Amino acid sequence: MNKHRIEICLGSSCFIRGNNQFLTVIKDFMERTGIQKQVEVIGRLCEGNCKKGPVILIDGQSYQNLQLDSLEKLLIDLKERIKEKT
Ligand code: FES
Repeated sequence: MNKHRIEICLGSSCFIRGNNQFLTVIKDFMERTGIQKQVEVIGRLCEGNCKKGPVILIDGQSYQNLQLDSLEKLLIDLKERIKEKT
């Protein structure tokens, strides 16, 4: 089974703009919903999109200017995609 992948920018700009908090939010969400075995979370280096940060990629799709509510919506969508397959 292919794992889904969340890539979280750990560059200083994204980190300060929200990814420090979002890292915890993502981990908590995965534990709470039981999808941690289907999702790999990795850090990535800054790729120069700092002004559009915080940047997070989910399955290769880049999301920028994320807020807590928009991140939660993305995580719920991911969980639903995983549950549809199982
Ligand atoms: S710090 Fe995230 S894109 Fe630059």
